[in-house]
Amino acid sequence: MNKAVTARAHTNIALIKYWGKANAELIIPQNSSLSLTLEPFYTDTTVEFAPELTQDQIKIDGQLQTTMAGQRVRTFLDLVRQRVGRDDFAYVNSTNHVPTAAGLASSASGFAALAAAASKAAGLMLDRPALSRLARRGSGSATRSIYGGFVEWQKGHNDADSQAVPFQEHIDFDIQMIAILLDPRPKKIASRAGMAQVVATSPYYPAWPASAEKDLQAMKTAILKKDLNLIGQLAEANAMKMHATTLSATPPFTYFEPETLQAIEIVQGLRNNGVSCYYTMDAGPNVKVICSAQATPTILAALRQHFAADHLLVAQPGPGISYL
Ligand code: ADP
Ligand code: DP6
Ligand code: CO
Repeated sequence: MNKAVTARAHTNIALIKYWGKANAELIIPQNSSLSLTLEPFYTDTTVEFAPELTQDQIKIDGQLQTTMAGQRVRTFLDLVRQRVGRDDFAYVNSTNHVPTAAGLASSASGFAALAAAASKAAGLMLDRPALSRLARRGSGSATRSIYGGFVEWQKGHNDADSQAVPFQEHIDFDIQMIAILLDPRPKKIASRAGMAQVVATSPYYPAWPASAEKDLQAMKTAILKKDLNLIGQLAEANAMKMHATTLSATPPFTYFEPETLQAIEIVQGLRNNGVSCYYTMDAGPNVKVICSAQATPTILAALRQHFAADHLLVAQPGPGISYL
């Protein structure tokens, strides 16, 4: 008795970044992190186990996946099969309503949706903490996409305790993000490879986990105080500390592109003129502006002088995982 199951997961953007693994196989991070789940960016994934298949058939955005991305999904399905003790294969059909591999966290929504759909299709009924731990095995940032609003991924020590917890699922103050889509192409260095290279070679990396843990505590206080300026300052500083570790890696690399710096300058210029807005960036050139809905029209007007209007995507806080 096999049934197709479809799940939807939204992406999340970290205000305090996960950067570096303590255990690469289990995806246990070196530091805890905290994110905001976003409404307009999400992945829908359908999984159906089928006795006639001799291998998993994986489609992302209509394309049959035969290389790396397909292998990552197959490895994840193996984990699910192993847990339920079944050996049949599955159809996976996934649609990203977010650019893939562009630093807008497609791996977060992608593996959170896959965890929810595959586990249920396989006959497992997992609660949200268990789903979060399972999603973690696909992509670290997916750990947090099980929940909506502000979410903390508590790094833990092992497979049983490294999981996300909702910090504030229903946000009652004015905060959102504007994603500036500078470059929708897949990044040259995947998050996974980038952070591994940094952990292995940057002499600055050892400073990161301790600094991020401090930032996380300050961020939680700032959220509880509903202090948008403090949230923005902390997020911006934390993101730049993360990016400093890529320049200090061997060989050095950066996710910045010329337009990234342009976007940063616009945000700084707005701020000098009294508009409250802050930037953050993940492993990719695209900039996310943290701001209030109230200030958004002013910020959009400034950004439109340099970027196409359809490359400026306003994102409100979004919900956790759901089944369709
Ligand atoms: P991003 O910034 O988009 O998260 P990453 O380098 O972290 O970029 O991850 C991109 C990878 O995530 C893709 O190459 C693919 O392996 C995986 N991925 C993206 N979307 C999906 C999806 N819908 N289902 C399964 N895997 C996905
Ligand atoms: C910079 O979760 O994409 O976006 O665990 O290897 O799949 P893997 O990496 P991923 O890394 C995200 C890094 C980040 C920061 C963050 O989202 O916390
Ligand atoms: Co990712």
